[in-house]
Amino acid sequence: MSRQFFVGGNFKMNPNTVAEKRALTDLLNQAHLDPSVEVVVSPPFLWLIPLKEIIRPEIKVAAQNCYFKDSGAFTGEISPLQLKDAGIPYVILGHSERRTLFHETSEVVALKTKAALAASLSVILCIGETLEQRETGQTTKVCSEQLQAVVDVLTEADWSKIVIAYEPVWAIGTGKVATSKQAQDTHADVRAFLSKAVSPAVAQSTRIIYGGSVNKGNCKELSVQPDVDGFLVGGASLKPEFVDIINSTL
Ligand code: G3H
Repeated sequence: MSRQFFVGGNFKMNPNTVAEKRALTDLLNQAHLDPSVEVVVSPPFLWLIPLKEIIRPEIKVAAQNCYFKDSGAFTGEISPLQLKDAGIPYVILGHSERRTLFHETSEVVALKTKAALAASLSVILCIGETLEQRETGQTTKVCSEQLQAVVDVLTEADWSKIVIAYEPVWAIGTGKVATSKQAQDTHADVRAFLSKAVSPAVAQSTRIIYGGSVNKGNCKELSVQPDVDGFLVGGASLKPEFVDIINSTL
């Protein structure tokens, strides 16, 4: 089964100025982008709606987080229903920065994923191991446990709206990209896990994208790995090379 290549740009807490936003929007609106690639950009909350209104229609937008309740006294949070009502189709959940800096457990990520799907959002679900976990041979175990928490609360049908982003923590923002073999091996392990834990059909159809220091120099080699179905790009998504990454399979 062929899976549509997916490239996400996670802007994180960037950019800061109107001029930088304009430059980024102009870049994406004017570039030649491979029409066969699904492109999703994820700005900070404040910029979600304005960006959606000016970005070319084939580029979708994603929130970088949401809560698992629909409404109520949860100061500082935003609900999946509010995102849906605002016309935002995707949300990133379980990013390692949220797991580490904001103490989100896999169980919380699972609750958020279930709530986002219930609001008809699609989810970019991030998983990945630390350097210590990789060096002690725990990569498959860690990724499987992070996914198992989500498997436990979803139905098989829910997986059609999930893109899994494998992001080794040691490769995020460090300039240390996983080798194409490391990425391919882990993606294949994740697919094998899905096959057993959910179903072979879900394992075949779910896109597993790689994130961690992807740039224009390494994206082509990563993109030809059979189980790498795209990228979640951080730092380079703020730069002109994001266009090269989107077009990496051309
Ligand atoms: O969500 C994106 C990842 O955290 C990767 O970030 O490309 O800056 O390493 P990076």
